[in-house]
Amino acid sequence: MSETRSTFGSKLGMVAAAAGSAVGLGNIWRFPSETADGGGAIFIIIYIACILFFGIPLMVAEFIVGRSSRANAAGAFHKLSPGTQWKWVGRLGVLTGFVILGFYMVVCGWTVDYFIQSITGTLHTVSDFSANFNQLLANNTRQIVLMVFFVLLTAFFIFAGVQKGIERSAKIMMPVLFLLLIVMVIRATTLDGAAAGLNFLFKPDLQEVKSTVFLDAMGQAFFSLSLGMGCMMTYASYFRDDTHLTKIAVQVSVLDSMVALLAGMVIFPSAFALAANPDTIVSNLVEGGPGLLFITIPELFNHMQGSIIWSAIFFLLLSVAALTSTISLMEVVTVYIHEEYRMSRREALLLVVIGVLVLGTVSAVSLPFFNLLDMASAKFMLPIGGLFISLFVGWYLDKKITQAQLTNNGKISMGVTFLKGYSFILKFLAPIAILLIFLYGLIG
Ligand code: TRP
Repeated sequence: MSETRSTFGSKLGMVAAAAGSAVGLGNIWRFPSETADGGGAIFIIIYIACILFFGIPLMVAEFIVGRSSRANAAGAFHKLSPGTQWKWVGRLGVLTGFVILGFYMVVCGWTVDYFIQSITGTLHTVSDFSANFNQLLANNTRQIVLMVFFVLLTAFFIFAGVQKGIERSAKIMMPVLFLLLIVMVIRATTLDGAAAGLNFLFKPDLQEVKSTVFLDAMGQAFFSLSLGMGCMMTYASYFRDDTHLTKIAVQVSVLDSMVALLAGMVIFPSAFALAANPDTIVSNLVEGGPGLLFITIPELFNHMQGSIIWSAIFFLLLSVAALTSTISLMEVVTVYIHEEYRMSRREALLLVVIGVLVLGTVSAVSLPFFNLLDMASAKFMLPIGGLFISLFVGWYLDKKITQAQLTNNGKISMGVTFLKGYSFILKFLAPIAILLIFLYGLIG
């Protein structure tokens, strides 16, 4: 390991890379389907509370561990706490990354499929969008081919290196996706009957609360912010010494939540406005589950002038957003194998690609397996990882390291109350809240 580790170049590049990891299918595909399942507004309120109370603090915690160790997820614990068992937290994280890639890549394949359907014009002629999506689910070969394509595409960017690959792709496309979503929100909310969708999103209906909604919302918060598996940790290991960790965590979290909310404000008003039968809309939304995005959005585009162009641009940008997320996931797993097992980056990458292809193929042909990987990662592995990262920085890590990281060696002034409050969150608030939600979700 004599080669020097690369670092991100510009400041914008660092925010863009971390935001690129966070913003992905989690915001635009997973968030709406979880929101539908969780009863709308209630889910969103708990979700936002999770982001504020432990999402942002945990992201800062991952940044601290990553930048102070400048190592991969497992190596970081190794370096900061030699001879202890903390390295298992990093190892769990690497395993989690693997599990996530195993189903995420399939959804990436669907996204590419919808891009192809857009540019070839076939999406434009569809009349039953739900049947159209089910047709894709029934076509295993097509799903597998597109999944393989996306895995190889991701591997190519990892191969091209940190700076060039990740930074460049993230910087250009993210703002465009954001603007496009705003245009779509405007179209969706001005459809006849859109108000019911906005009500569902923003007006809590307390009768509808499910007991698992807390765990679902927490899992979604972890998933969407790329937390709990050492992904942000690995990215922070490339941060520069003068990067303002707290600021970046806040910026990335705000951006990520905004994209999710915008996606919700596109999908729910459209779904309610375009529903054939408004009485069964909520149960249809829940049933639609993983298909919500791929059924409702194309239908919305059909109500826009120049639908082919809109949907082509949308699914292209969505593929890029997904790509910056898969890159971050694959980077964690690859750099772990590369640094811990003394393999070359290329060999490590090859190993990861083979593993992901196997998992991806199984989840493409088996929906139960797909759902298992989704649930196991978001609702179990990420919260457990997050819990231990919080305990590690809160209790184990030398206070001096934490302070030096937060203040960039005293260059940023931070009040004592702030530092104490932060320490309280990591020591008590976050771990206890995560544990309670976790247990309640399992029993409830
Ligand atoms: N956050 C990404 C999304 O919302 C997915 C993702 C990338 C992720 N890296 C992660 C999720 C690490 C959990 C952990 O699509």
